[in-house]
Amino acid sequence: MYSEKVMDHFQNPRNVGEIENASGVGTVGNAKCGDIMRMYLDIDENGVIRDCKFKTFGCGAAVATSSMATELVIGKTIQEALQVTNKAVMEALDGLPPVKVHCSLLAEEAIHAALWDYAQKHGIKIEGLQKPVSDISEHEEAEDEEY
Ligand code: FES
Repeated sequence: MYSEKVMDHFQNPRNVGEIENASGVGTVGNAKCGDIMRMYLDIDENGVIRDCKFKTFGCGAAVATSSMATELVIGKTIQEALQVTNKAVMEALDGLPPVKVHCSLLAEEAIHAALWDYAQKHGIKIEGLQKPVSDISEHEEAEDEEY
């Protein structure tokens, strides 16, 4: 049911942990399944993501998507990191079963929440970034229809 990549990132998650004095931290959860994900970003003075770590209290797919999401955003600019959508994360993992799509949404939202925190701390506005929700199940109603 899971691709080899999902299993690999679930069993050997990359970039687990915290970043001390992170440039931005974002925490999101899903009230329906109770899973929680926190992302830490270290962003340099040129707006490039130097490091990204995560802590996820959640299912295997949530761990795998957080792990893949950290790998995808490291080395990217803020604008490029915004393109790391849940679909991009799922593609990088060779897909997820339909019932697990919401787990990847948690990763996208956690990155956005961390970028939002960074923008707030620096008093800047990031083009294209919406204020994040803390509970992604609010988004899911609309997402469910697509899948
Ligand atoms: Fe909720 Fe995976 S079951 S994040």
